[in-house]
Amino acid sequence: MGTKTVLLLLVGVLGAYYVYTPIPDSFEEPWRFMWMATQIKTVTNLAVFAEQLGISHFMDIGMLYMSSQEVPPTSDENVTVMETTFNNVLVRVYIPNRKSEALRRAWFNTDILSRRTANRLDAVVISTNYRLAPKYHFPIQFEDVYNSLKWFLRQDILEKYGVDPKRIGISGDSAGGNLAAAVSQQVINDPDVKIKLKTQSLIYPALQTLDMNLPSFQENSHFPTLPKSLMVRFWSEYFTTDRTLEEAMFFNQHVPEKSSHLFQFVNWSSLLPENFKKGHFYNSPTHGSSELANKYPGFIDVRAAPLLSDDSKLHGLPLTYVITCQYDVLRDDGIMYVSRLQNAGVRVTHNHIEDGFHGALSYYGFKIAYRIEDQYLSWLSKNL
Ligand SMILES: *[C@@H]1O[C@H](CO)[C@@H](O)[C@H](O)[C@H]1NC(C)=O
Ligand SMILES: *[C@@H]1O[C@H](CO)[C@@H](O)[C@H](O)[C@H]1NC(C)=O
Repeated sequence: MGTKTVLLLLVGVLGAYYVYTPIPDSFEEPWRFMWMATQIKTVTNLAVFAEQLGISHFMDIGMLYMSSQEVPPTSDENVTVMETTFNNVLVRVYIPNRKSEALRRAWFNTDILSRRTANRLDAVVISTNYRLAPKYHFPIQFEDVYNSLKWFLRQDILEKYGVDPKRIGISGDSAGGNLAAAVSQQVINDPDVKIKLKTQSLIYPALQTLDMNLPSFQENSHFPTLPKSLMVRFWSEYFTTDRTLEEAMFFNQHVPEKSSHLFQFVNWSSLLPENFKKGHFYNSPTHGSSELANKYPGFIDVRAAPLLSDDSKLHGLPLTYVITCQYDVLRDDGIMYVSRLQNAGVRVTHNHIEDGFHGALSYYGFKIAYRIEDQYLSWLSKNL
């Protein structure tokens, strides 16, 4: 064999190794999934590389990628789309064009389905454009969503948009699910807000910062749509660009002794059903120094980690819909929240997707995205 052939062979083998992702048998479109996983891997690797070269911050590459997917507010035959501000926070409002006899329901969201939901549910949809890391850290994101929601939940504003004050829901996916859960908890205890939410829907939400070694983190640690290393990076960037927090979180050594009472709220040994605990042994996370928590108290704040609220704060929450995916490091965050809400007497519908993976709803063109969207919007249609 000539040198060229050997080189070609080598490139082929390395290429196949790079593209190859072990995929569960239950996935209905394995090749499509593998192709998408390769794209994610490539963007992540480029971001890491650009950061190491000092060209750009890791999170900025992600933002660049996101903004390349963004579309300007465009109205169509069914829906009028406009941008405005609620309490100085930029929001996008989707209003169905068809005539409505009655007041409409409203859906306050931080996810991707705005246009189709406005049309299918005949609802006014508000999508908040909260400010992002690495430039802005917690609690800016929380406050943006909270302030705009509070602005919306006023009689005069609802009248302006023709919205029924008894039919307002909130929702979000992933980081958006975190924000939706966090503001729902705050709004029920806010004496200034008289109009309450009817539903909250949390799509594979991130809900806790304490235990990065849950069974779902262990099982999906290298799963391509959201590996543990990326999730830990996202969490730590929410609070600071200081990478020492990331490192401590990765090894579960970030929670100070004085906060150990919080471990009961993320105790998977008591909060997960048996089938999700199989093959795992519970060890309480180890303690870290109190220095990180003093510098970045956000990571033990319930507005960042809604699973850390005690039962009294969960008690009055609205009807809840939670989607979790089997192949997702965040799976157990969602399942534990379902358990905690049920224990606190909140009505919950839990939709666990056996062949689901993190982000599944936003991968357009995938059969699984349409299936989940359909289940989700049917639930909203019936319950909001
Ligand atoms: C408008 O709504 C109709 C009926 O739901 C649908 O068939 C059509 O595709 C929609 N148009 C756009 C641009 O989405
Ligand atoms: C977690 O739950 C298990 C089983 O219910 C219990 O034995 C353990 O003490 C709990 N640990 C913490 C830190 O709450």
